[in-house]
Amino acid sequence: MTDEATEAPQAAPAHDAGRMERIVNLAKRRGLVFQSSEIYGGLSSCWDYGPVGVELKRNVKDAWWREMVWSRGDIVGLDCSILMHPRVWEASGHVAGFTDPLVDCKKCKVRFRADHLAEARCGLTPTRRAGDCGGELTEARQFNLMFKTFMGPVEEDANVVFMRPETAQGMFVNFANVLDTARRKLPFGIAQTGKSFRNEITPGNFLFRTREFEQMEMEFFVKPGEDMKWYEYWKQERYEWYLRLGIKPENLRLREHASDELAHYAKGCADVEYRFPFGWSELEGIANRADFDLKQHTQFSGKDLSYFDEEARERYVPYVIEPAAGADRATLAFLVDAYDEDEVEGETRAVLRLHPRLAPVKAAVFPLMRKAGQPEKAHEILTRLRPHFPVQYDQAGSIGRRYRRQDEIGTPWGVTVDHQTMEDGTVTVRDRDKTTQERIHESELLPELLRRIAGA
Ligand code: GLY
Repeated sequence: MTDEATEAPQAAPAHDAGRMERIVNLAKRRGLVFQSSEIYGGLSSCWDYGPVGVELKRNVKDAWWREMVWSRGDIVGLDCSILMHPRVWEASGHVAGFTDPLVDCKKCKVRFRADHLAEARCGLTPTRRAGDCGGELTEARQFNLMFKTFMGPVEEDANVVFMRPETAQGMFVNFANVLDTARRKLPFGIAQTGKSFRNEITPGNFLFRTREFEQMEMEFFVKPGEDMKWYEYWKQERYEWYLRLGIKPENLRLREHASDELAHYAKGCADVEYRFPFGWSELEGIANRADFDLKQHTQFSGKDLSYFDEEARERYVPYVIEPAAGADRATLAFLVDAYDEDEVEGETRAVLRLHPRLAPVKAAVFPLMRKAGQPEKAHEILTRLRPHFPVQYDQAGSIGRRYRRQDEIGTPWGVTVDHQTMEDGTVTVRDRDKTTQERIHESELLPELLRRIAGA
């Protein structure tokens, strides 16, 4: 609830001006991201992940799930519905307080966030500032960011439901269910990934601020008094997760919120920020939500959400530490960080130096020539690799061109079948980053690539 509503990206360094545009172009050209409903002129700030992009985003979410759920014994998963009882949003504070101040320009009719006016651009002349068209700006009024819809066929107030603006509340309202069925003791966490919706006044910056987006959130329930220890722990864990997956340290920072930035529920909050071409911006917020949520839901639902601590023989309402990440923002950060341009064989190539675990396609298989049994052998190898990870086959154009096509989507290894393969069963494996090649026996290829992906 803190992040999207309050932050303003800082100005981009001038040398980065064209970089974002080149990344957006590559994303479109190579099937990572398309504008939503493009054949109808597009829908502003909505994006579709293409065949390559969907794999990248899935890998980001899988890496998060693996880290947060599978590899720990103290966190379990959940998948809650998007539509929830409307009282949930009263209890959470969203009905009353999930607002941004909005002003309208009476001339160009564009709406601006009153707290972002310094960066806002005029609707008539985008090189000028809001209000420079001579239009009078209205008084600021509070605009609730939740999307409303109706449950059932009758469109009346009694049937209003909201598209969830965060996945977190699904985990709070299921606290007792999880406690009972998963036989958990504190400290423990509940994790979920899923879509959320916020009717942002000024979305923008490609995948960064969209009205429909996906979150990766975890609520970690702890004994009061142990909360600051866990807050520090999760800040560090989450910061390091991005580094482990290849983000360059100089592009990542942890920023503690000042007290006037804190959301009403938060005792402390820090952001993991990435240095995008458009400035440092939040990827993830780590908040100490204290006992706000469980107490609110106890009060609004009438159900006791306290916890009996067998060891201490005392009952209390747990505190919550919440790392809340944006899956689309993380995907964008990994994409931007991986994007590079260098010279190979006298040509400039665009390459995504993605961590092998995030790479959408793990290997591409090429016959050097379209004859001498090489395409058949390449298909044999392809068939062996396919059940294990995404692989592509390409026999069109020069081998250099084929490598370059894979570089652009971040494929870590190019496997080439050549005349020697037909003699001794070895293939060449070309490394995306170093552009060097080595020979591996085809029977060793699958275990070797699996080892490299797992160990990377
Ligand atoms: N649950 C916190 C957030 O959505 O930012």
